[in-house]
Amino acid sequence: MRPYGGEAAREAAATILPLIGDLAPSIAIILGSGLGGLVDDVRDHVTIPYGEIPGLPGVGVEGHAGKLVIGDIEGRKVAVFAGRFHAYEGHPPQLTAFPVRIAHALGARTLFVSNAAGGVNKSFAAGDLMVIEDHLNLTFTSPLTGSAEPGETRFPDMSNAYDSAMRAQLHAAGSHLGIELRDGVYAMLPGPAYETPAEVRMLRTLGADAVGMSTVPEVTMARTLGLRVAGVSCITNAAAGIGQAPLAHAEVLETTARVAAQFQALLRAFVHTL
Ligand code: HPA
Repeated sequence: MRPYGGEAAREAAATILPLIGDLAPSIAIILGSGLGGLVDDVRDHVTIPYGEIPGLPGVGVEGHAGKLVIGDIEGRKVAVFAGRFHAYEGHPPQLTAFPVRIAHALGARTLFVSNAAGGVNKSFAAGDLMVIEDHLNLTFTSPLTGSAEPGETRFPDMSNAYDSAMRAQLHAAGSHLGIELRDGVYAMLPGPAYETPAEVRMLRTLGADAVGMSTVPEVTMARTLGLRVAGVSCITNAAAGIGQAPLAHAEVLETTARVAAQFQALLRAFVHTL
């Protein structure tokens, strides 16, 4: 069996489904660094540590819990992946995207992704929430590399990768709550070193508004499998060279802690509209 492929995902789902009774999720949610507090909003939940899911290793980054929480938010059945697998940990993109395969095998047809990101757009401030309009894959890798899975498209269309209707729903939820949301393009670099100021200038020239080290593999896999995608970046810091302060993961976690309640309120209101 191919690791992190469709058959492996169906095996993982076969382990999970008997544990969750009638909670089969329609919505998958992947939480970024420091944004895992959303799991506290999940009602009637079943929690499964990643290590108990066949094919998924535990996670190794501070700010990422490493558990799948399945339950109910706002009357919708959700599968919340608190913790993700990053390229910079040495993981192949196929593993990074494997939670999306599992979510699909569990029946989810909508994906919400979130991440912590540096602000490349100079008008952004730490603590801003940005609706992801589109992305730049600057890793030049793909979870689809290798032979295509039976029944899966070889060349997925990415022209509406971040579903325009769901972006509007996010904005409606934001206005309802009085949360001002930004819009922008997310660029993924492999990391784990933060960017140089020259790289940040390059990213701005390329049309990026935010930069991070995740999300793109999961979204690529979601579009291949036909899931609709919405995403939000939490701008945790001005990207390198914009401010004077050196960048540090502690600052990322500090900012996500500060906006966690707002992020969670937005996500609950958004899920309510689905
Ligand atoms: N660069 C890359 N990834 C990040 C950043 C950043 O400035 N902040 C949070 N994640």
